[in-house]
Amino acid sequence: MKITFCCTGTKAEPWLEGLRKALPDAHVDVWQPGAPQADHAVVWAPPQQFLDEQSALKGLFNIGAGVDALLRLKLPPGVQVVRLDDAGMSVQMAEYVCHAVIRHFREFDGYETDVKAGKWSYRKPRERHEFPVGVMGLGVLGERVARALRVFEFPVHGWSRTPKAIEGVSTHSGEVGFDTFLSSSRVLVNLLPLTADTQDILNRKTLGRLRPGGYLVNVARGAHLVEDDLLALLDSGHLAGATLDVFRTEPLPAAHPFWNHPKITLTPHTSARTLRDESIAQIASKIRALEAGLPIAGVVDPARGY
Ligand code: NAP
Ligand code: GLV
Repeated sequence: MKITFCCTGTKAEPWLEGLRKALPDAHVDVWQPGAPQADHAVVWAPPQQFLDEQSALKGLFNIGAGVDALLRLKLPPGVQVVRLDDAGMSVQMAEYVCHAVIRHFREFDGYETDVKAGKWSYRKPRERHEFPVGVMGLGVLGERVARALRVFEFPVHGWSRTPKAIEGVSTHSGEVGFDTFLSSSRVLVNLLPLTADTQDILNRKTLGRLRPGGYLVNVARGAHLVEDDLLALLDSGHLAGATLDVFRTEPLPAAHPFWNHPKITLTPHTSARTLRDESIAQIASKIRALEAGLPIAGVVDPARGY
């Protein structure tokens, strides 16, 4: 069995070493133009030339959860696209989102400013029931985040394409459930995949439906958010702030107004990182299952977009 590795911006050697150890019978190599056909590929942002040449692939294993960039390319016929299915990401996402929500709710930024100014001052405790959190997307990451927020006793709403039941979470689904979901939420957490249906979904109209003093946490993709609409809603005071991990252009351009905006906290697309060892173990076990003709989790439906 041949496995080819084509991950832009990723140091290949540790991945090759791990994959060779996990699949000792396989030939694992970095893809070069003109390389022989492989059975499976481990990829991140591969060039179109790679997919055009590797036309006999059975499995295309993306070393991330989001497959939006991969699905924009022309794929080999019949290949199964497989996303990372947690592999250590959901706990990181839960940490990140809970941290962002609690930091906002408990006004820790304000306390930090006070302390830096040598001020010992108290703020009035806020009522948790006035900070319902809405989680958009209740998949591998969204469900984990919704459950983690419940631990801190925030009222939690969730929205997905198809109906879901999660203990302690008020769930809504589809277009019919969207309005109620938004108007029930004050803090909005985006964990949707980027698809034709979800691009630009965070805009003046949708964010405007959040309760006054709303707060946005975008940890999914930059193209979900209409950036000028966020700036307008922050300026008008309808939104109190935002924590953003993803941007339409990454790295965020130096002159971008988000960098120094007083109501925006930003991080460089780091909320849930790919963990190499966990990812290799998962990919290797899925390759073994596929080769044995067994079903695997995390197969993407290209028509659905995730
Ligand atoms: P997932 O398991 O595929 O879950 C996607 C969820 O979104 C599902 O609940 C799905 O509904 C829902 N959904 C999809 N289209 C929808 C629509 N049109 N309307 C309403 N709900 C819709 O994905 P995941 O693993 O949780 O990851 C989510 C995204 O997080 C990824 O696609 C990626 O972009 C992003 N991500 C970011 C980072 C980072 O570091 N910033 C790291 C990893 C992932 P159903 O359940 O009904 O299908
Ligand atoms: C990161 O953004 C991922 O999709 O895994």
